[in-house]
Amino acid sequence: GAGPWSGAGAGLPLVIAHRGASRYAPENTLAAVDAAYRRGFLWVENDVQRTKDGQLVVLHDTTLRRTTDVERVFPGRAPWRVRDFTAAEIARLDAGSWFGPRFAGERVPTLAAYLSRLDHNGQRLLLEIKSPRVYPGIEADLVGELRRRGWLDRTHTGSRLVVQSFCVRCVKAVHELAPQVRTGILGSPPVAGLTRFARFVDEINPRMSALSSRWIAAVHRLRGPHGRPLEVYAWDVGKNTGAREARDRGIEGVIA
Ligand code: G3P
Ligand code: CA
Repeated sequence: GAGPWSGAGAGLPLVIAHRGASRYAPENTLAAVDAAYRRGFLWVENDVQRTKDGQLVVLHDTTLRRTTDVERVFPGRAPWRVRDFTAAEIARLDAGSWFGPRFAGERVPTLAAYLSRLDHNGQRLLLEIKSPRVYPGIEADLVGELRRRGWLDRTHTGSRLVVQSFCVRCVKAVHELAPQVRTGILGSPPVAGLTRFARFVDEINPRMSALSSRWIAAVHRLRGPHGRPLEVYAWDVGKNTGAREARDRGIEGVIA
């Protein structure tokens, strides 16, 4: 498929590599971006958080514990929240060994480094804003960083970047700060409430198990802020069944 903007039924569904190719390399690292590239994934999904000194980094959890060796390097710093560590401290951590010895030395990428790797590979990004309550004002930080890195240029937006979140307010804020950016909300709001989202989102991305034909049809009937029908990318899909399930259900793709 041509990817976002392709419209319903335009061909094969798009498969977006969840946290990079996170079955083959440690999630949300540059190794996971490259693994996605090698396997032919044009689009990757990631998660963005903010350090103590205001740098944006790519990591799923609000703590560093599960995916780095932070407990060993900084034993006295429980509960090891991302927001309590500087970018320089986080740069010392190993974000690969937990996944496998051959990934030892892999780092938690800054968003800047992550974008530059995508630029280098020619890949595209579904970026998730995580835990907005922990990071007040992260939307403006994000838009600033995207602008500095050239990701709000005409050649990038629309076709190369989607910003999504469970936080509706955050997505609305991103839309207001940078209306050219394609946006999505995570979840499956009731049909009755969909119209209000169409003012500021281009896609609605639910769990696969939450999908119904009626809901999908209701989403597809609406047009987003850029004048195109809203699209649906489902996540939490079964292993190896994502693309087929997406095709059978008539949605644009999956995050798998
Ligand atoms: O892209 C959707 C999906 O990533 C949301 O769940 O927990 O993996 O960020 P999570
Ligand atoms: Ca995510």
